[in-house]
Amino acid sequence: MADIEVEGERCFVVTGATSGLGLALTRRLVRLPGVRVVAPARDLARAAALKLGERVTWVELDLRSLAAVRAFAAGWRGRIDGLVNNAGVSAGALRRTGDGWEETVAVNHLAALQLTVGLLPHLVGGRVVFLGSSTHNPEYRRAQRFAHRGPRFTSIEALARGSEEAGASPARLGFDRYATSKLLNTVTAIELGRRIAGERVAVYGFDPWMMPGTGLQRAMPLPVRFLWATVLRMAVPWMAHASTPERSAVGLEWLLTVRPPPPSGQIFGVDRLPSRTVWTGAQEPALGRAVVDESLALLGATLA
Ligand SMILES: NC(=O)c1ccc[n+]([C@@H]2O[C@H](COP(=O)([O-])OP(=O)(O)OC[C@H]3O[C@@H](n4cnc5c(N)ncnc54)[C@H](OP(=O)(O)O)[C@@H]3O)[C@@H](O)[C@H]2O)c1
Repeated sequence: MADIEVEGERCFVVTGATSGLGLALTRRLVRLPGVRVVAPARDLARAAALKLGERVTWVELDLRSLAAVRAFAAGWRGRIDGLVNNAGVSAGALRRTGDGWEETVAVNHLAALQLTVGLLPHLVGGRVVFLGSSTHNPEYRRAQRFAHRGPRFTSIEALARGSEEAGASPARLGFDRYATSKLLNTVTAIELGRRIAGERVAVYGFDPWMMPGTGLQRAMPLPVRFLWATVLRMAVPWMAHASTPERSAVGLEWLLTVRPPPPSGQIFGVDRLPSRTVWTGAQEPALGRAVVDESLALLGATLA
């Protein structure tokens, strides 16, 4: 992969900028003075068609390939002010990446951690954000109402291999994989906040709340996609912890740019407050150690 060199500008790396929250955030960031957004995307023709202007540099990168993620980070030159690990995939049938890993864990968690580790030397004085979701919380009532029973953390190895619980329906397993990947994002943000000095690189989680109408449910059956894009989208103003990508992007931009930076290792919501839907289990140091140590071992990576 060719070297990526950004000089003399404030630089943000945003994954998943072709759709939903990532697109809304990128549109906001490039309106700030002197900001460049580098946006890894898997379909450059589709990305270019969005016409986001000169201040967005699209770079071809499919997060399903961890080798490609490593090469992207290795080719980086220059400083990064913020990395937003926003790209994500949700529920659906079991799918494997070219590396043989289960896609939800590979894209949502392993690629995000790999990208963070690879870009860390360039992020000194900057911030990293992982995208969480209240579906990671097995005690969160609304997630239960939407058929989520919460994460099923076994081990990183088993999750990445896509080991399936016997007897559960494919739809249930798809929900489980997504909720588990969001637990991994949340726990990773908290644990990296413990391991990396906040003055060096501040690490956060961000819960964008439910944003009906984004592309996230594209793998779901047609009736679910219809409800997601119509009824739920219209109900946003009347639901707690529901938002639009545009509104959530305001909160995310705040987290990336507010001075002084909030304490590292915290999870924030759209309202710019520490999230009230973080599961207490996600704060357990033993879980943080297991998730990050096992993930780094699988990636063959260390925190520089
Ligand atoms: N929507 C919600 O209610 C909600 C709630 C809580 C948390 N979140 C989180 O918010 C984040 C953004 O979600 P969204 O709702 O905005 O979803 P979205 O509209 O589906 O956007 C997802 C983005 O990720 C990119 N992506 C997926 N797989 C990729 C891959 N292999 N390589 C490169 N890029 C890839 C997509 O690119 P393509 O365009 O190429 O597919 C797209 O740009 C996700 O992390 C999600 O888990 C969403």
